Amino acid sequence: MKILLTGGNGRLGTELRGLIPEIVAPASSELDITDPEGVLEVIRRERPELIVHAAAYTDVGGAEKDRERCWAVNVEGTRNMARAANEAGAKLLHVSTDYVFGGERGNYRESDTPGPVVNYYSLTKLVAEEAARSAVRRLIVRTSFRPREFAYPVAFSDVFTSQDYVDIIAPQIALVVRHALEIGNEVLHVATERKSVYELARRRKPDVQEGTKASATVRLPGDVSLDSSRWHALRNELAL
Ligand SMILES: NC(=O)c1ccc[n+]([C@@H]2O[C@H](COP(=O)([O-])OP(=O)(O)OC[C@H]3O[C@@H](n4cnc5c(N)ncnc54)[C@H](OP(=O)(O)O)[C@@H]3O)[C@@H](O)[C@H]2O)c1
Repeated sequence: MKILLTGGNGRLGTELRGLIPEIVAPASSELDITDPEGVLEVIRRERPELIVHAAAYTDVGGAEKDRERCWAVNVEGTRNMARAANEAGAKLLHVSTDYVFGGERGNYRESDTPGPVVNYYSLTKLVAEEAARSAVRRLIVRTSFRPREFAYPVAFSDVFTSQDYVDIIAPQIALVVRHALEIGNEVLHVATERKSVYELARRRKPDVQEGTKASATVRLPGDVSLDSSRWHALRNELAL
């Protein structure tokens, strides 16, 4: 199967390139997802059967100020990738986020209604999911991950998540990628168990200090943990 990856130089994309060495991953200078004609040109040339769309504007704080750019990359970029997937007869695996949920209760399942989103990045990622749905064949994977090391001195104990370190999440996503054509037009949550960000941080930075989300410069959802049981059931079905 020929697979094309957007966002190949990002946190997730870098791991995916290591796990799936045959993946075709044009740099953003070669494939700018905000350029509809350029996207079509690359997709017509490469003719992938699967497009893994992991490129995004991911600076949650920056998105509050740079809304135009965030919208262009996340919404219009995804629209361009969906159109290109349709043109090539490819399936689109769209990488989405736990932030599409409001964060009031957590343990969200794929069937739960998303929103209300709490910041601008989340808004664009929610709208991007609808853009991805314009691909005739698509798989929306909601996930959440952190770089391999916890980068901050403080971690919030009142923010709950099912995210994990990227080296734990990426192999799961790689498995979904490899089997994407056997999976229907679904939404799939791929994450680990619910925990506080502080608990997660301590696993790789034992001296991290405990803080609360009141000190964050951008509004953060309280509990966007994802229930991944559909993915676990699918793994059993596919004997993975
Ligand atoms: N990190 C998280 O906590 C998290 C959580 C949940 C979901 N996600 C989702 O997971 C996916 C990957 O996130 P990440 O953290 O790996 O992202 P990242 O490290 O911020 O990397 C983003 C990638 O997107 C590329 N990109 C940005 N604008 C582009 C454009 N106009 N055209 C082509 N490529 C462009 C960047 O290219 P350059 O390298 O050239 O700049 C980079 O490779 C995203 O969809 C994100 O929303 C992330």
